Amino acid sequence: MSTELADIEHVPETWTRDHLLDLESLTKEEITLILDTAVSFKHATDGCRRKVATLSGCTCANLFFENSTRTRASFSLAARRLGADTLEFSASGSSLSKGETFIDTARNIQAMNVDAMTVRHQTPGTPHLLAQQLECSVINAGDGPHEHPTQGLLDILTIREHREEIAGLTVALVGDIAHSRTARSNIWGLMKLGARVIVCGPSTLVSPQWQELGVEVAHDLDAILPRCDVLNLLRIQFERQFTRPFPSVREYALLYAMNRDRMSRAKDDILIMAPGPINRGVEITPDVADGPQSVILDQVTNGLAVRMAVLWLLCGKRK
Ligand code: NCD
Repeated sequence: MSTELADIEHVPETWTRDHLLDLESLTKEEITLILDTAVSFKHATDGCRRKVATLSGCTCANLFFENSTRTRASFSLAARRLGADTLEFSASGSSLSKGETFIDTARNIQAMNVDAMTVRHQTPGTPHLLAQQLECSVINAGDGPHEHPTQGLLDILTIREHREEIAGLTVALVGDIAHSRTARSNIWGLMKLGARVIVCGPSTLVSPQWQELGVEVAHDLDAILPRCDVLNLLRIQFERQFTRPFPSVREYALLYAMNRDRMSRAKDDILIMAPGPINRGVEITPDVADGPQSVILDQVTNGLAVRMAVLWLLCGKRK
């Protein structure tokens, strides 16, 4: 396991990226550097409680065109923990409603001397487009169903904290794989670090094509459960679906919800994860969500550390 304390005084020369757009294009070494830097920030700040003013004088903007609780709050807090100023933008209440284009809005925000712009948007590729148009660093905080790289990183960091090695672990992503950006970022990150990844859910939400990425496709949670070291329970993304993928939520829960009965048939040390927001009684029952194997709130804390690491690597390199 690589949990070397990374240097948080100087951005290493091995970090050459200007943006964080996805995990698909990162190398195993780059992913490991971000995770090690996140661990260093956790150490240096008493678990992200205290400030380190390594980015004082920088400005980090958050542009959110979709709802968010954890991601937005932790990007904002991470920037402030690093001593940076923050600028919050929400589509509602902005001049977009007066006809300004998305790119013009982003350029105007950049003109307020912004060093890093974190963007969440319903359209896949939006952060990639911004990265071509802007001078500042762009961070993808979720582009439609495509990727959510910092979610993938915080999930992997959480697993790494509880296990010796990512390599060799069997991690199942359960639920709405078709519409989940968390699934894609987890798949790329976990596979690069050597984990075996299973995607599991109803056939309407998990197509056989996923095998082309090198993951195992399963539709029967009970059959794969005894082999799993980690379960990441993904929300059903009703807002991205045009037709109902299963007859009822009750039927989905019967087949795929992680509950007490399934816990009794899982490995004793299985890790139960979820990116949040969780729908209690749908993908997970309350006793499992709040139970001893759940690391769901650790994921949230690690989100702060990962976002500090990402902002520091990108803005620190510019400094
Ligand atoms: C996820 C998202 O928005 O992609 N949540 C998050 O960022 N923590 C997952 C979801 O909405 O289900």
